[in-house]
Amino acid sequence: PSGVLADARVRPLRDLRISVTDRCNFRCIYCMPKESFGKDHLFLPHGDLLTFEEIERIAKVFVAHGVEKIRLTGGEPLLRKNIEFLIERLAQIRTPRGTPLDLTLTTNGSLLTRKAAALKAAGLTRVTVSLDALDDALFRGINDVDFPVADVLAGIDAAREAGFGPIKVNMVVKRGSNDHEIVPMARHFRGTGVVLRFIEYMDVGSSNGWRMDDVLPSSEVVSRLSTIFPLEAIAPGYRGETAERWRYVDGAGEIGVISSVSHAFCGDCTRARLSTEGKIYLCLFATQGYDLRSLLRNPQVDDAGLATAVARIWQGRDDHYSQQRSEAGAQGNERRGSDAPRVEMSYIGG
Ligand code: GTP
Ligand code: 5AD
Ligand code: SF4
Ligand code: SF4
Repeated sequence: PSGVLADARVRPLRDLRISVTDRCNFRCIYCMPKESFGKDHLFLPHGDLLTFEEIERIAKVFVAHGVEKIRLTGGEPLLRKNIEFLIERLAQIRTPRGTPLDLTLTTNGSLLTRKAAALKAAGLTRVTVSLDALDDALFRGINDVDFPVADVLAGIDAAREAGFGPIKVNMVVKRGSNDHEIVPMARHFRGTGVVLRFIEYMDVGSSNGWRMDDVLPSSEVVSRLSTIFPLEAIAPGYRGETAERWRYVDGAGEIGVISSVSHAFCGDCTRARLSTEGKIYLCLFATQGYDLRSLLRNPQVDDAGLATAVARIWQGRDDHYSQQRSEAGAQGNERRGSDAPRVEMSYIGG
């Protein structure tokens, strides 16, 4: 394809987030609460999953359309069998300018001690680890499978030893639940090279019972931290970065805040999401995806046909959910948009 592909709000396509499994070994209370994801929950059957060949084929089409960063997500992506084989294939892809992709992965860290070295060898460039608290009892309760915090910290260390670039740690902040861990988390990761990012708790999915009162705005994170560790704002690393960056004035590194509730960043949103079963979602808050799997599995459709389909889907994109929510005032606990159930975070990977 020639020229820059833009959506209806003139946003280019730059990032593809690929969910490789809808399963997770955690049951974080705000993401996969056990009431909705219990023992009898039906996950996708194996035949519905895109194969690694199919994912690679789609990824190439997206890269030809301008994608420069691919993030593997889940569920928990390290639960997908032989994930390093997929990484090896994706690491070979070059952009039209001949550069390799930024190839990264978001994980809960539980399997990193075992897998970090293999992931690095396969060509993964970065990792982001989710961690919501340092207090062991609190963390075990949040993940709701009694998983110890020490094992996640060991996973982060294993990733550093494997030689990944700057590792990011994502902490979802829920007021009254883990907000007293903001300072301890910052103290722990300061000066280690790990970039800690605080995420406002979002109204994604339909099962987490989100209320506006649960959101601790990023401005409060920054003000609480800066009374103890002075901070100064720094420029974004790239256009459309989700996090606003701050550095410790004493040189101990940087943190980020991701303010999708208090300060929507839809205007620069260049992200497309591919679900485990091959549907394209144009927004984290979408109620519907566009099926690519049937095109992939149709022998009449070649790569050019796939590329045309992807271009049409992106060109028709008008999604800007977080912006609409804040324009609507967002005082109440009500959600905006249609009544159709929204896609779950564990299905689309955040
Ligand atoms: P970097 O490439 O390291 O800058 O990562 P990233 O911020 O693009 O991706 P990451 O997966 O680390 O995103 C962190 C969190 O930000 C996600 O888990 C989501 O909670 C949130 N987030 C990411 N993309 C979007 C988005 O498009 N919309 C909204 N509302 N939130 C997003
Ligand atoms: N709000 C904000 N972040 C969330 N995540 C999962 N659910 C939510 C939510 N409701 C985060 C996870 C992980 C990333 C994939 O998304 O903690 O860091
Ligand atoms: Fe927790 Fe991430 Fe698993 Fe959701 S996908 S339950 S946030 S570890
Ligand atoms: Fe992008 Fe939708 Fe998030 Fe806005 S709400 S930044 S459009 S994913």
